Amino acid sequence: MAAVLWLLAVTLLPLCYGGRLSVSTQKLEIQNHLKQLNKPPLKSFNSPDGDIIDCVHISSQPAFDHPLLKNHTVQMMPNYRPQGGLFGDSKAVKRKSSKPMTQMWHSNGRCPKGTIPIRRTQGQDLLRASSVKSYGKKQQRTIPQPPKPAAPEPSFISQSGHQHAIAYVDNDKYYGAKATMNVWTPRIEQPNEFSLSQVWILGGSFDSDLNSIEAGWQVSPDLYGDNNTRLFTYWTSDAYQATGCYNLLCSGFVQISNEVALGASISPISSYDANQYDITILVWKDPKEGNWWMQFGKDQVLGYWPAMLFSYLSDSASVVEWGGEVVNSQSDGQHTTTQMGSGRFPGEGFGKSSYFRNIQVVDGNNNLRVPKDVTTFTEQSTCYDVRLGKNDDWGSFFYYGGPGRNPDCP
Ligand SMILES: *[C@@H]1O[C@H](CO)[C@@H](O)[C@H](O)[C@H]1NC(C)=O
Ligand SMILES: *[C@@H]1O[C@H](CO)[C@@H](O)[C@H](O)[C@H]1NC(C)=O
Repeated sequence: MAAVLWLLAVTLLPLCYGGRLSVSTQKLEIQNHLKQLNKPPLKSFNSPDGDIIDCVHISSQPAFDHPLLKNHTVQMMPNYRPQGGLFGDSKAVKRKSSKPMTQMWHSNGRCPKGTIPIRRTQGQDLLRASSVKSYGKKQQRTIPQPPKPAAPEPSFISQSGHQHAIAYVDNDKYYGAKATMNVWTPRIEQPNEFSLSQVWILGGSFDSDLNSIEAGWQVSPDLYGDNNTRLFTYWTSDAYQATGCYNLLCSGFVQISNEVALGASISPISSYDANQYDITILVWKDPKEGNWWMQFGKDQVLGYWPAMLFSYLSDSASVVEWGGEVVNSQSDGQHTTTQMGSGRFPGEGFGKSSYFRNIQVVDGNNNLRVPKDVTTFTEQSTCYDVRLGKNDDWGSFFYYGGPGRNPDCP
């Protein structure tokens, strides 16, 4: 008996001690990471969705923690904006929507000039991540690689259960992209899954040194702790390995707007066979400084990714993709029921299926153009599909999305 007790004590004591040690280490790690991410605010707001929005002085933002940006002077305006192209208005959408797109936190105040609104990261956000360091980063290898001309079948970077329904171009040099995307709240089956709709601007090779700039809307319970539709950005310069993150969750993106918070909830949301809402996103490379700028809506310039963050993209992009991505974790051995877009297939059309309209690219002369030779891609069209179209009101457009699991997608 004594021997058994002794054995128990010997085996359990180190476990208890080790456990306590790692809890306090984790606490410390969380505190340090929060201190790194959350800069001292001049003013803060509670948003109705539970977020805290901090108004941080523009020169105190996370970007300036980046070793390459230590002496960086903030550009308050792009030198050039892309010329021409189609505008984001649409007769069909005007008839079907009434309210302008806003962010929820605006109902409780605004950030003063000279500051930028930042969604505060809280301890519970970090606790949801698989590790403190991985919070705000995409899992590696989540981009569909367009088929090579030589290969009959598309080859994928995507091995980890990510599913896409996209339109893309990959036969030119691109200096930006624009799209107006329908906004929905797709249902997410598992908290570690997400559903997003976005534009990808890509350069480099897909396996090791891919440069990517991404922007759109997403529903991601693990990242934000709820099922709200949120505006987001992402960047990486090494195929999602060491560099890059969502929003301002690492240093890199330089924000100048005091109106729009990255990662904050947007509203209103489209409803099935009722009001439709969309957001317009434009990303382009400033021909003078080489920085990649982002504009939200008609004229809200959010900020830029400094040219020095990238290798390939410091020249131009070789691929532009638009569309949806979901994580299919197959937690119960079946395909996920996580929705993409509105959760409806393209065949249902306007008001029911989600759309991207007026998709455009920026050419070498800084002009917006209707893209040539747009191609589509989806891993399993019976789960999520995409269908291209073209008309005067919507230019080049497509419907995309689907319900995930259904009798044809078991
Ligand atoms: C920033 O400026 C200081 C002082 O001029 C210089 O020593 C340092 O190398 C610069 N850092 C970068 C990243 O350019
Ligand atoms: C998000 O949606 C899922 C599926 O509808 C639900 O089970 C879950 O409780 C929701 N999560 C939150 C944080 O509201």
